[in-house]
Amino acid sequence: MPINMRRELDFPARIPSTMFVRKLNSLAIIGIAGTLVSAPFARAATTVIPSSSFSSYSTFESYWAYLYPWGSDHNGSARMKGSSTDHSNIVVASSTLSLIATPTSNPNPPTSTSNPHPAIHYARRASHDLLFGHPANGYTISGDFSAPTARGTWPAFWLTAVNSWPPEVDIGEWKGTANNWFNTFNTSSIVRSDLVGWPTDLSFHSIKAVLTAQPNNSDVKIQFYMDNVLRTTQYGQAFVGKPLWLIVNLQMEGSSGSPGPTGTTTYKVRNVVVTRTGS
Ligand SMILES: *[C@@H]1O[C@H](CO)[C@@H](O)[C@H](O)[C@H]1NC(C)=O
Ligand SMILES: *[C@@H]1O[C@H](CO)[C@@H](O)[C@H](O)[C@H]1NC(C)=O
Ligand SMILES: *[C@@H]1O[C@H](CO)[C@@H](O)[C@H](O)[C@H]1NC(C)=O
Repeated sequence: MPINMRRELDFPARIPSTMFVRKLNSLAIIGIAGTLVSAPFARAATTVIPSSSFSSYSTFESYWAYLYPWGSDHNGSARMKGSSTDHSNIVVASSTLSLIATPTSNPNPPTSTSNPHPAIHYARRASHDLLFGHPANGYTISGDFSAPTARGTWPAFWLTAVNSWPPEVDIGEWKGTANNWFNTFNTSSIVRSDLVGWPTDLSFHSIKAVLTAQPNNSDVKIQFYMDNVLRTTQYGQAFVGKPLWLIVNLQMEGSSGSPGPTGTTTYKVRNVVVTRTGS
């Protein structure tokens, strides 16, 4: 029997996963999304995003899209800005992605189109999607990050629901203090957050999340690492089967306090690798 037919018979509840890769603007965002299903046996890992995705703009654009999946605005004061012909806020060089936020004046429109409609004080950007369609029972997502921690700087590396929110898993979220937040949202108010100290010197440190569908094919276990040390394990309720975007972005102000910096803020990311188990 063909392997995919056998899989159908073995796991009738499985639904096709969707993966999107996105980029953001000056903050770039990237998204990869996938759905998880539990699998009773281990299968070889497949590379979804290779470590070379920031090696050139053309490679970058084959794995990531500019802007948020939903557009340029979210719940901070930065508007994403960037495209294949505008690399003023999203720079790929030396195998490193730099997302750059710069103060802006007289933005049009003046406030964010997303709740809670904060005023736009910074400009950056993002672009289009790739679709992948394979069932998966696990993802390992890792990278090296030079994250600003000053008040009003809100870089992130996170998974969020393609359809109704949550699920959300924040693998990297720095909210204007010397901490990275590892978060899993079951609902908007049922959230587990674990903070790890983060150096303020802009040195690169690695973070990693290992997501595994649980045997009851509903919940997902998330193991969070910093510098290759397991820091915490969280569980997402009923995340299996829900497609996610992976986003890397540099927001400003919002949850990270205000006012933000009067100068340029740069968030750097390199060696992002995403692998999937489950085919
Ligand atoms: C799945 O298992 C977890 C415990 O491991 C439990 O909390 C959860 O309610 C279960 N979900 C379903 C849909 O059975
Ligand atoms: C979210 O749901 C999972 C699975 O049911 C559970 O293990 C976890 O404790 C929940 N998180 C919170 C913050 O209650
Ligand atoms: C902004 O949205 C993100 C994700 O959707 C959420 O984690 C965060 O709490 C929100 N912050 C504010 C200030 O609304």
